[in-house]
Amino acid sequence: MLAHTPPMGWNSWNTFGENISEKLIKEIADDWIELGLLDAGYQYLVIDDCWAEKKRGKDGLLVPDHNKFPNGMKVVSDYVHSKGLKFGMYSCVGTMTCAGYPGSLEHEFVDAETFAMWGVDYLKYDYCYKPHHIPGHILYKRMGMALKNCGRDILFSACNWGADDVYAWIRSTGAHMYRSTGDIEDKWESIRDIALSQMDKDCYSASHCYNDMDMLVVGMYGKGNVGRGGCSDEEYRTHFSLWCMMNSPLMIGCDIRAMNRETVNILTNKEIIALNQDPEGRQAYLIERGNIGYNNVKVLVKPISDGSFGIGFFNMGDTDARGSLQFWDIGLPSLTGYGFKMRDLWEHEDIGVYKENYTCDLKPHHCKVFRAKLVKD
Ligand code: DGJ
Repeated sequence: MLAHTPPMGWNSWNTFGENISEKLIKEIADDWIELGLLDAGYQYLVIDDCWAEKKRGKDGLLVPDHNKFPNGMKVVSDYVHSKGLKFGMYSCVGTMTCAGYPGSLEHEFVDAETFAMWGVDYLKYDYCYKPHHIPGHILYKRMGMALKNCGRDILFSACNWGADDVYAWIRSTGAHMYRSTGDIEDKWESIRDIALSQMDKDCYSASHCYNDMDMLVVGMYGKGNVGRGGCSDEEYRTHFSLWCMMNSPLMIGCDIRAMNRETVNILTNKEIIALNQDPEGRQAYLIERGNIGYNNVKVLVKPISDGSFGIGFFNMGDTDARGSLQFWDIGLPSLTGYGFKMRDLWEHEDIGVYKENYTCDLKPHHCKVFRAKLVKD
């Protein structure tokens, strides 16, 4: 079975768009291993849109772009696998992909077989040029059925932004992750708006089918295909913390070959990643009271399988602010003799035991994330 925990990997779109090639993918795979990204849990190397020739072959099969991938896809896939990674590709429900390459409409089963033949382990399936006469859920069910029966385990990443009622039907398609939000941009406002729009969706993410909040922009600094000015390291840290707490798949989107030390530190923070990869797969829920009197601080709580909690304070606003959590709000009655031993997951230090509540001050766009373990006096 696939996707026991949110998938982790890298996708070519955010930085490279159409500028992809066999050479690039091999370089990315090489540096991935050198930098310890596989050790941190990142596994799926995914080629997004723009990899194909504009026309299918005479046999009706998809053909890799001869200039970008002169030796075909199996060679690329073999190289990726030789590094201990898994290989992902991209297609689309419609007549064409969003960038105008052939889509899989009415070719779902033959395309799934082609991907299986190339050794593909992950398929991102987009939502452009959709026919009007077939509902979105049927199009995803088609590819879901085709992948399940193609003879290879292929993780199904539904990229169905814009589809109606996606929360109602997504699990019926066999998707292992799904995107209900528009494209991320490399700027704070985009990170903030995606996160805020998903904070009430905690019951729509679970093991084997995760709410995908889109690829990470950590470490892009305004460079690349979705470059829009970039963010500060603090903003990237908040972005990564939100994605981890909210159970999103973690797909790196920056140029792995050009990552600086701080980007590596953020993306490989094992204590934060452990929240995301917890086997129970619960998305953090929003504490409504955390914000009272302290505008713009969102307090998120993620129940963890060992009985502890991930607790995050996120200042989504543009001014200094204070966040507070009353432990009563997560189920601890007052005066029980219990308290929470708190560990700061960015500072990597235990900060003490707190009895009734925890309060902290945050600069604009900053966050604090803790692991809280129940202890008795
Ligand atoms: C739209 C998706 O949301 C993006 O992530 C990317 O896959 C592009 N399409 C590719 O055309």
